[in-house]
Amino acid sequence: HNRYGNNDDKTSLASEFQDFERSNIRLKSLLGEGNFGQVWKAEADDLSGHFGATRIVAVKTIRACSAQVSLKDEANIMRKLGSHQNVVTLLGACVESEPHMLIMEYAMRGRLLSLLRAARSATNILPASVPGGRSLAPLSPRTLAGFALDIACGMEYIAGRRIVHRDLAARNVLLDHNGMCKICDFGMSIDLDAERLRKEQEKNAANDLMRHNAHKFKFDFGSRYILQHWQHTFGQGQGQGNCSKDHPHGEKKSHHGHDTIGKRHALPIRWMAPESLQYHMFTTETDIWAFGIVLWEIATLGSTPYSQLTGREVIRRVPQGLRPDLPKESRHEFYNLMSRCWHKEPHMRPSFAQSRLEITRSLHKWVDDDS
Ligand code: ADE
Repeated sequence: HNRYGNNDDKTSLASEFQDFERSNIRLKSLLGEGNFGQVWKAEADDLSGHFGATRIVAVKTIRACSAQVSLKDEANIMRKLGSHQNVVTLLGACVESEPHMLIMEYAMRGRLLSLLRAARSATNILPASVPGGRSLAPLSPRTLAGFALDIACGMEYIAGRRIVHRDLAARNVLLDHNGMCKICDFGMSIDLDAERLRKEQEKNAANDLMRHNAHKFKFDFGSRYILQHWQHTFGQGQGQGNCSKDHPHGEKKSHHGHDTIGKRHALPIRWMAPESLQYHMFTTETDIWAFGIVLWEIATLGSTPYSQLTGREVIRRVPQGLRPDLPKESRHEFYNLMSRCWHKEPHMRPSFAQSRLEITRSLHKWVDDDS
């Protein structure tokens, strides 16, 4: 069984999408700021065929001083994801010319992490619930389980489209007007199909180059050896299954400095599985690990994992078996689910579909218990 779903997908690396007309965007207010970019609340006219209509959107931009950073990969991943109720939808992009911009659906309730932390103090005013939407005030165990279910659904969809998110955390989950969770921020994500295609192309190029240069080798003592050497050097996408061999070791992003602690664009160390911390492997199973940490964030109303430890200590101790303290507040079902998400063996962790089923079952049980 292949957890990544369909292997036969042929994905084109070329983008066949047209850039959105910049003059149709008006930036209104700053929503947030990251290492390289900003997210703005904005108005956009004539989006995707809706001529004459204006829509409130969120626009991600790159700051002028970090012009070397591209939003193209992120746009391609969001385009591949298309539309799902638990994933932030891309409505348009300006990536053929600088400065790059991504135009996304606007999620008016903001980040899940902020909502969880606001709920800690009774004096904080939580947004009122909307008729037909989810009740956000107060955050009942059922509301919290609803968040977990939304995130499992969104991640099941993302994993099924052969995308590894790599930065799943409560800070990267937004809430819409109905209190529905939407996964966002694909800036670190990997498209497994695009990676496989890239590796195949590199392998073919390496083989062509070797064939072209074959006459330079006086003795045919090792064409086989040389081929192996080339294939070793350039890698070959031989993996088909659910193991992580066919997985990039973060090469795509290494020029952003992700692989070094303390650089500008830091890795999400406290959300990372042991194999990511040790070997820089990122798979759907490492996204499941992060999902377990998100369950923990929900149960603790936005605590920071291993808050007593430094990043370096986390990198050393998680591979030795350290796990976040199980929160006293959370119901037994979620203890169990989150600890299985943190199994040392990646293939022993539950899938997103399994997690979705388990959360749905608990929700039904609570409804039955309450009635
Ligand atoms: N912050 C980052 N992305 C956002 C979005 N799509 N909607 C609202 N706030 C955001």
